[in-house]
Amino acid sequence: METEIVLSSGGRMPVLGMGTAAYPVPEPELVEAAIFEAMKLGYRHFDTASLYQSERPLGRAISRAIQTGIISNRSELFIATKLACFDAYPGAVVPALRDSLNALGIEYVDLYLIHAPMRVRGEKRFVFTMDDVMPFDSVGTWEGMEECYELGLAKAIGVSNFPIDKLKLLLSHAKVHPAVNQVEMHPLWQQKELRELCKEKGIHVSSYSPLGGTGCFWGNREVLHLKEIEKIAGDKGKTAAQVCLRWGLEKGVSVLPKSFNKERLQENMDIFGWTLGEDELQVISLIPQLVEDDASQGLARPINSCINV
Ligand SMILES: NC(=O)c1ccc[n+]([C@@H]2O[C@H](COP(=O)([O-])OP(=O)(O)OC[C@H]3O[C@@H](n4cnc5c(N)ncnc54)[C@H](OP(=O)(O)O)[C@@H]3O)[C@@H](O)[C@H]2O)c1
Repeated sequence: METEIVLSSGGRMPVLGMGTAAYPVPEPELVEAAIFEAMKLGYRHFDTASLYQSERPLGRAISRAIQTGIISNRSELFIATKLACFDAYPGAVVPALRDSLNALGIEYVDLYLIHAPMRVRGEKRFVFTMDDVMPFDSVGTWEGMEECYELGLAKAIGVSNFPIDKLKLLLSHAKVHPAVNQVEMHPLWQQKELRELCKEKGIHVSSYSPLGGTGCFWGNREVLHLKEIEKIAGDKGKTAAQVCLRWGLEKGVSVLPKSFNKERLQENMDIFGWTLGEDELQVISLIPQLVEDDASQGLARPINSCINV
């Protein structure tokens, strides 16, 4: 299996990326050290967001990796960041990306995503209430994303947390089609219908919380303890985490596990050079699915109820 895929924009993206979100937000030095360790291990794709406060530590890790010769220049990396919901309105998109680039200390990102199809009022923060959710201007916000692309500030643009209806609306007006839809995806939320639509439209799906996340505002910690996953892991001499990640790759998506621990970062890389059998894929496909509202404890509800202007 290829370790990279080609996006509709033409750029190459490693199918394994390191997630950098953690809540509560850790000390920046800890985040930088974990990312630097990941670069030493061979990770080349990093998923950040203005919301995560990991852009600056990632930028410092990039500088250190260049200074120490781990990479020779920034172009060896694939860096994805996201437009926060607090900046998801016309006029705010290009300045928000410029702020992210400034924090990252780089001239362009490889991928810029709308973090979620909603606008939230107030200061950037992880926790908000339904009262803070405002109508989302799909047309005007995407025009801002297209401007980022045309200016060369983002080599590819895409979306995140876009369910089928919001994605279809976007496709109805987009001049540049989204290259990626990054969504929560793991054996308890397999996103079958959304993946089919994305495949038909040439949109690559990237899986966040592929190990079930931390169970904080999103994800489900049961994933790594599912009896089906544990059985397959035992049979193959792999860990439950490796089985979940390999399953994602075999479904054609890229996977973005987060670990700030050296051993687990290494463990999460051992997902190439072996496969899951048809019978094992079948067992995973039959795992009962969470309904969407339960699957993403924090995001599905406000996204589904967010109206478009
Ligand atoms: N677009 C969005 O809205 C969105 C939402 C959520 C996440 N994301 C992105 O996706 C990334 C990954 O998602 P996530 O952080 O929610 O969840 P995840 O990667 O599924 O799980 C992370 C949790 O699993 C642990 N872990 C990592 N490797 C492990 C292993 N081999 N065995 C057992 N436990 C392991 C981590 O702890 P340690 O660090 O201690 O190893 C952490 O507690 C994020 O960091 C972020 O970049 C995007």
